[in-house]
Amino acid sequence: MFVSENLSVNSVGHLTIGGVDTVELAKEYGTPLYVMDEQVVRKTLKRFHDSMNKYYDGKGEVHYASKAFSCMEMCRIVASEGDGLDVVSIGELYTAVKAGFPMDRVGFHGNNKTDEELEYAVKVGVGHIIVDNISELHRLEKIAEKSNSQTKIMFRIKPGIDAHTHDFVKTGQIDSKFGFALETGEAYEAVKEAVNCKNVKLVGLHCHIGSQIFDIAPFEEAAKVMLGFIAEIKNKLGYTIEGLNLGGGFGIKYVDENDPKPFELYLEKVSEIVKSECKALGIELPKMFIEPGRSIAGPAGITLYTVGARKEIPNIRTYVSVDGGMADNPRYILYGSEYDAVVANKAGEERTEKVTIAGRCCESGDLIGENMPLQHADSGDIIAVCATGAYNYSMSSNYNRLQKPAIVFVNNGKSRIAVKRETLDDIIRNDI
Ligand code: LLP
Repeated sequence: MFVSENLSVNSVGHLTIGGVDTVELAKEYGTPLYVMDEQVVRKTLKRFHDSMNKYYDGKGEVHYASKAFSCMEMCRIVASEGDGLDVVSIGELYTAVKAGFPMDRVGFHGNNKTDEELEYAVKVGVGHIIVDNISELHRLEKIAEKSNSQTKIMFRIKPGIDAHTHDFVKTGQIDSKFGFALETGEAYEAVKEAVNCKNVKLVGLHCHIGSQIFDIAPFEEAAKVMLGFIAEIKNKLGYTIEGLNLGGGFGIKYVDENDPKPFELYLEKVSEIVKSECKALGIELPKMFIEPGRSIAGPAGITLYTVGARKEIPNIRTYVSVDGGMADNPRYILYGSEYDAVVANKAGEERTEKVTIAGRCCESGDLIGENMPLQHADSGDIIAVCATGAYNYSMSSNYNRLQKPAIVFVNNGKSRIAVKRETLDDIIRNDI
């Protein structure tokens, strides 16, 4: 009935998330409101690390990609599950530091890190830095030397795999701003240089082929290409690469037509390939890292809105306007993303209409979606948009000087605030 398993309808016909009535949540905390179900986050993390243990004999780490959804409470939850964290900016790293996240389980990404970011990462002792380009390697070597440390690094590699997903979220192909290219020899030359560096230690190779991917085959192909390169490094330079980071990218269900494969199957298949390739190439089994983001945060979240205006344009369409939109969820205007929505206070009723849910920004493209099946929605109703836990809050903005919504976590029938709603004073906080 709903795209996410944690959603249900209670005895008064209201939508519930994690056993909590969403209409009551809207009343208590106001709208727009991001709601995250803690149990879904925990269960999904467990599915990933349990399968890593089962199929890869525990020789791996799950690093939650915090770009999908980052706040201190999320960092605490991931830390308490014993998993690691992928951060991509000093801001995400700072959030993790302040949440008390164990730094040895953090990987620091970014295709254009500043010196300030590298210095901070070295200072707080992140587990490893994923170096994207040669100038970063040179700058990091100097920074690590100054701080008298040896910093562990991985190299981000473009494995030349074309994942079948939206152009904007593809990253593994040669025409990409991320990482070192294999085909041109760029990656090999960089490795040759890194193995002779004193203050950085190359401990792994990383690739991330894209996001919202439903096939397992591109991940298997990427693993093969990466292992081939690890073998080449071993054979030509006599250097052992200990870690293989295969990134994230596992697709989730936004609408009924999406059919993601279970993560267990992904880990089973990829582990098999890695093991058999290592045997064939005569190299040691590397420690495996994966970086799921969307798959952990996405299905855990919903966004609640209050309906304002309803406009029926005969023979054209019906607009149902809500008190949020592209400022809290820019994914429709960016990618034409699809979502499932429910009128939370009529969740037990049939969805009898197909409407366009519009946001409140001065922008015609500010929509949550078009042609969305929905119960009849009128002013004052609460609309829940499902599976918004990833890349909504983390990509939100203050466009039109709108205040960012609050974030509430629900857990076993209870709710608690994790991020406060921005106030009008927050909007002008840095204005002089
Ligand atoms: N690792 C690296 C190096 C990444 O760049 C990403 C995502 C991930 C892991 C996590 O990928 P995931 O499991 O979440 O697919 N804003 C876009 C998605 C951009 C993904 C960026 N990188 C969207 O809303 O669809």
